[in-house]
Amino acid sequence: MKKSISTFLKHPTKDSSNRSANPPVTRASTILFNSMQELLQHEKRIKANKKISYYSYGRYGSSTTIELENILKKLEQAYHVFLTGTGFGGVALAIMSLCRPGDEILVSDNVYGPTKEISEQLVKEFNINAKFYDPDRFEDLKDKITKKTKMIIVENPGSSTFEFQDLSKIVSLAKKKNILTFLDNTWGTPLYLKPLKLGFDLSFTSATKYYSGHSDAMGGSLAVNKKVFKKVMFFYKLSGYRMAADEAYLIIRGLRTLDVRLQKHYENTKIVINFLKKQKKIKEILYPYKPSSKNYKLWKKYYSGANGLFSIVIKSKKKSSVIKFVNSLQLFGIGYSWGGFESLVLFQDLRTNTKYTQTRRYFRFAKDEYIVRLHIGLEDPKDLIEDLKTSLKLIK
Ligand SMILES: Cc1ncc(COP(=O)(O)O)c(C=O)c1O
Repeated sequence: MKKSISTFLKHPTKDSSNRSANPPVTRASTILFNSMQELLQHEKRIKANKKISYYSYGRYGSSTTIELENILKKLEQAYHVFLTGTGFGGVALAIMSLCRPGDEILVSDNVYGPTKEISEQLVKEFNINAKFYDPDRFEDLKDKITKKTKMIIVENPGSSTFEFQDLSKIVSLAKKKNILTFLDNTWGTPLYLKPLKLGFDLSFTSATKYYSGHSDAMGGSLAVNKKVFKKVMFFYKLSGYRMAADEAYLIIRGLRTLDVRLQKHYENTKIVINFLKKQKKIKEILYPYKPSSKNYKLWKKYYSGANGLFSIVIKSKKKSSVIKFVNSLQLFGIGYSWGGFESLVLFQDLRTNTKYTQTRRYFRFAKDEYIVRLHIGLEDPKDLIEDLKTSLKLIK
């Protein structure tokens, strides 16, 4: 029977040996075999790459992590999915397994801070050069490609400034030049965009966010095509990257309701944005909600849905009053991350953040414009609006 993804997420497998509706947590280091012959046969199959389930020792997975791998493989339509202990492990895994000294990586300038940091600082020590391109200008990406470019790293949309890029254009250019492509798809999730189907070689999602959905688990998922599988697997096995069974269990539980939660995050967000767009102190809302905008058109072209994460640009003569606004919100927690059930707020002090020297994406904002990132949770949007209304009064 052909099932929709919503149905699939409620019934990922039928395991006759286990009658619980949700797979149990299987914590294991040692996996037992019936005989030495069976163990050696298993090793032989692994070496021949005939079997991509490496269930022979706890470092390569347990039945719980393999269950999660299988769910995500289907969701991503991937050849294989590598699970890591945090989302960022998945980003590092992609770069470290596929790039070598002398290579260049081309990174969109709006990527998540640590992705910028690994590209700008760490890989340099391995003689890998990173260049950053303007996510709003495809020509800039094109101009920066050289014979050494090994991989293009895209985050769509950028999770602070929310630029959307023309993904198919990037993929077809990269294919022509034999360059690998990586997409950080944490915002859209493979429910709304399937990067591998579009032609990306690697599709990454931080499972910490909407997959888990409850702000209590961390993990990463790196889905790959056949072309890069062997190399990533080689590094994965030797680097010790893995996800614990407990985290896999929580992420499987979160995935059951991913579709329902994302829909509700989106509905709430539309209601809140309807209020925010009428506020004079807010100069811009960085979210694809205006049909006439370039970002909306690109979002519509590639995505079948949206979520609760966006930024607002506040115009103010006093930075301290913007911080007061953030501090005085009652229903928005102040903290990193997003994708959980709850609303969050973060003042993005991007202009004075000197950690990343090549950050250009903020220069389009004037000095009296401040970026505040909001995550709209599953609360009643009427309450969120009341909270925002009261605190907005503090902005001077
Ligand atoms: C867009 C994006 N990519 C990657 C990550 C890294 O994921 P994790 O925090 O699970 O390591 C984050 C975390 O905030 C993120 O927002």
